[in-house]
Amino acid sequence: MSTNEVLNQKTKERYSLYAQFYPILALLAYYIIWRGNILKHIKFFKNLLTQKSSVLDIATGDGSLTAAALKPGKNKNLESLVCLDISPDMLEKARKNLKSPPTEFVLGDVGNMPFKDGQYSLISCFGGLNSFPDVPLALKEIHRVMAPHGKVRGSALLLPASPWRQKKIHQWIEEGYQTQTITTEKFRNWVRESGFKISIEQQIGDVLLFELVK
Ligand SMILES: C[S@@+](CC[C@H](N)C(=O)[O-])C[C@H]1O[C@@H](n2cnc3c(N)ncnc32)[C@H](O)[C@@H]1O
Repeated sequence: MSTNEVLNQKTKERYSLYAQFYPILALLAYYIIWRGNILKHIKFFKNLLTQKSSVLDIATGDGSLTAAALKPGKNKNLESLVCLDISPDMLEKARKNLKSPPTEFVLGDVGNMPFKDGQYSLISCFGGLNSFPDVPLALKEIHRVMAPHGKVRGSALLLPASPWRQKKIHQWIEEGYQTQTITTEKFRNWVRESGFKISIEQQIGDVLLFELVK
C-alpha cells in the first residue's frame, strides 16, 4: 500500500466512528479550537451558487453543512449536486441529510476522481484539506475537473497559536482524524503550485474561507 492509501484507510476507519457523533463534535471543535463563525461559513458556501448550475461537493462528510448551504430540493439554482467522500459511513449519513433530488453520491478519493476534465464549473470543498493524504495531488485533481471559468470555494482549519489548541490538533493527527497542520503560508504555496489563483481569502478565528479560480 502507498502512503496515501494507508492514510485514506486510516481516515475511513476513524470516520466510521466519528460519523456516529458528527456534526455535534465537529461543531464543538469548530467553536472551541478554531473559533469560527458557522453562519458566515454557511453563507460563504451558499454564495458559491448565484445562478442555475451543477455543484460538485468534495469531502461532503455527513452532508449537514452542504444541506444548510445549498438546500437541495428547495434551491431552484441547484440543477444537480454530486457529493464525493471517501468514507462510506459519512456518505451514508449524507444520504439521509441530503435526501432531495437532484443529489448523487460518489464514494471516492479526491486524488483520483471519476469525472471528466473540466466537468464542473462550481466545486465546493469544505473541511477537506485537513484530512486529505496529499493536498497538492487533491488540488491538481480539483483543477483538472474544474471548467476553465469555474470556481472552487472551501475552508481550511489553520493551526491556532495557543499551545493547548495545537496539542489537541497534533493528537487528532496522531489518531488519524486529520492528516496535517495547515498554515496560511502552506496553503498559499499549495495553491500557487496547483495552478489555481486565490480570488477570495477570509480568515475568521483560525478558519480560512477561500475561493480559487484558474
Ligand atoms: C471534516 S470532514 C468535512 C465534512 C463537511 N464538508 C463539513 O465541512 O462539515 C472531512 C471529510 O473529508 C473526507 N475525506 C478524507 N479524505 C478524503 C479523500 N482522500 N477523498 C475524499 N474525501 C476524503 C472524510 O471522509 C470526511 O468526511
